Amino acid sequence: MASADRARYDEAERYFRQSHEIAERAGDAYLGGLCLVNHAKVHVARERYEDARRDAESALAVFDQLGVGSAKADAYRVLGMIYRETGRPALAESRLKSAIELAVGAASVLNEAEASRELALLYQTMGRNQEALSLLNAAHRLFGRLDARAHLVHVAGKMAELEATYLAVVREWGQSLESADTYTFGHCERVAQLSVAVARALGLDADAQTTVRLGAYLHDLGKVRVPHEILSKPGPLTRDEFEVVQMHPIWGIELLAKVEFPWDLKPVIRWHHERYDGTGYPDRLRGDEIPVSAQIVGIVDVYDALTTTRPYRPAFSPAAALAKIDQCRGHWSEAVFSAFCAALVLPGVSRR
Ligand SMILES: [Fe+2]
Repeated sequence: MASADRARYDEAERYFRQSHEIAERAGDAYLGGLCLVNHAKVHVARERYEDARRDAESALAVFDQLGVGSAKADAYRVLGMIYRETGRPALAESRLKSAIELAVGAASVLNEAEASRELALLYQTMGRNQEALSLLNAAHRLFGRLDARAHLVHVAGKMAELEATYLAVVREWGQSLESADTYTFGHCERVAQLSVAVARALGLDADAQTTVRLGAYLHDLGKVRVPHEILSKPGPLTRDEFEVVQMHPIWGIELLAKVEFPWDLKPVIRWHHERYDGTGYPDRLRGDEIPVSAQIVGIVDVYDALTTTRPYRPAFSPAAALAKIDQCRGHWSEAVFSAFCAALVLPGVSRR
């Protein structure tokens, strides 16, 4: 695979070098600039950042003279990526913001979407996750607008790539929220995987599965506001402490107030502790008022907590955990409970 990539890169570089020579001979400055900026992208992929910077800056000088906004946006984007990858975040941010502004000015939806995505990745590395997700959402909307002109660019491929980026950003954010202790480590990933299996068992479509997966990664986001000594208390919580913990679904929503998602994840975050019989929190929803996505993550969350060792008790075996959940069947709809049982025995699902 790596050698195939290398061979393709070699071929691409040869092509861009030859095209650049032809452009120079023909006196076509614009084509020459395009060759340089595309060659710079290959250098970035090969992690040759000095070569990439040289070519991108030469391309930018050409486009500057010609005054081509959309091409300048492309060159700025590559420069931003180079600075991001070489640990110069302030410069990277400035170049990527310029790329977005130039793309907007040139009404180039594709360039705007791509620059937004790269800036999102920068913000992620800086821990600015809310801003990263806002930009990914913007990029998602922009790629969506490109759909009508799908014959011009590979929109479907770009959309799939963007959704993979989205997933990676949300997943890493979720994982970064898990405390480093062994008790909760891996919780989000396990809950996400089993929740998707439950969603499949319920026959939910791909979009709903993505909703469940991303919601599972972020379901306990609001716990960052719960004091550490309460979260890690090795024993039963007092009434006051439990009231603080019960705020975490609302705090999660507050932290995401300015973030929109292409998928409807917020119900999962707000309502994963609601119960079908109306005894849950924070809103004491009842029955089908609780979205299925939230019920799925809710039941899997309980199962994962039971099957994980806690400071005050050993882990339950899968069978013992299932028996305990069975005693509380009223907490979930019949359909969700059955799908959960079906998902637990699906091949590929770890039962630990
Ligand atoms: Fe929770």
